[in-house]
Amino acid sequence: TGLITLDLGYKNTGATLSDITYLDGDQGELFYRGYPIEQIAEKSNFTEVMYLLLHGELPTTEQFDTFNGNIKKYNFVAEEMKKIIDAFPRSAHPMGVLSTLTSALTAFNPKAVNVQSKEEMDLAAELLIAKFAHLAAWTYRKTLGLPLNHGDNSLNYVENFYKMAFRLPNEEFEINPVVTAALDKLLILHADHEQNCSTSTVRMVGSAHTGLFASVSAGISALWGPLHGGANQAVIEMLELIEKDGGDVNKWVAKAKDKNDSFRLMGFGHRVYKNFDPRAKIIKKAADDLLAALGIEDKALDIAMQLEKVALEDEYFIERKLYPNVDFYSGIIYRALGIPTEMFTVMFALGRLPGWIAQWKEMRLKGDPIGRPRQVYQGAQKRDYIDISNR
Ligand code: CMC
Repeated sequence: TGLITLDLGYKNTGATLSDITYLDGDQGELFYRGYPIEQIAEKSNFTEVMYLLLHGELPTTEQFDTFNGNIKKYNFVAEEMKKIIDAFPRSAHPMGVLSTLTSALTAFNPKAVNVQSKEEMDLAAELLIAKFAHLAAWTYRKTLGLPLNHGDNSLNYVENFYKMAFRLPNEEFEINPVVTAALDKLLILHADHEQNCSTSTVRMVGSAHTGLFASVSAGISALWGPLHGGANQAVIEMLELIEKDGGDVNKWVAKAKDKNDSFRLMGFGHRVYKNFDPRAKIIKKAADDLLAALGIEDKALDIAMQLEKVALEDEYFIERKLYPNVDFYSGIIYRALGIPTEMFTVMFALGRLPGWIAQWKEMRLKGDPIGRPRQVYQGAQKRDYIDISNR
């Protein structure tokens, strides 16, 4: 006991010591294991980044091949899992389906639950990474009522996911390298972001020594919320709404500033970045490049650019240091790739998976204690029970 420090939303409370990701919110800088995100996004690939986050170092060719081989080897998902998917209504939100499936993996892989050694943790990590691409793809196909595809081991992780999710029955399917490269970059940019809400959830649940799959399932639920990963869906919905409403961005900026109006400019602001989110900068450029390469003109992108301009010059946003965040432009890329809005947060989950796992592994290996915050009680003082007939 002793004096309890109240810190709503843990704005200034460090929950752990970590070696994985460093972000400087004032400078707008982000590093994975010491490597600047700009270099990683330009030169690396998602599979390599998964290895880097999990193991702390970039892999040698041999290490990469072993890791990549394991991910291909373990990607079988039990047929019974399809029955679970069948039981959902087609209207189910993909994030709810994904979280359920991830938790259900526990039942089909019991050995991966009660892990103690580093080797057992690495195996659980590879099992989850391998199967998760199926789960994400199947979740998407459920919403469209399409048959559930199996993977193609001749492809890399991102291409394989893409084909499983988007190949239509009885149609030739060709991987468009421009598309999969953009997707790869997006997944890299989402791969870890230190103690954000979903990662803290994974660590909190895992701190009770709950298994990895159930811990990650809880993280998916946290990510679902519109203040966190769900913002990418909310951004596109907002841009569509503004477009339908006539496209007057000033009106919507005014709404966002109005304290009597609960509307917030989705994709703006961040708990830690008080400067441009470095990921947003990279994504904005990737969105421009992709739209140009695919020859797409997207009105939502025009509105996003106008909105950004007006907000960045507005006293309210300047004073509060509210800049576009990672979710502001990612939806535009997903849309250009033909990914439906409801799937956006599933894409975020696919990207964040290695971060969740790396953080879970770090916590368990360091032997962090069970997470258990305190509170300052402000409810009723001691009083006597009154029988229901006398209330
Ligand atoms: N539009 C209008 N005003 C805002 C916004 C916004 N998007 N974001 C923050 N503010 C205001 C807020 O009203 C408050 O004003 P005041 O000081 O007058 O009360 C001030 O800025 C500080 O905001 P806060 O809510 O105390 O800040 P926070 O650190 O608790 O919240 C946030 C951070 C990201 C939840 C918030 O900025 C927000 O709701 N943004 C919109 C949703 C969004 O884009 N989320 C994605 C975050 S990044 C990726 C991810 O985590 O997945």
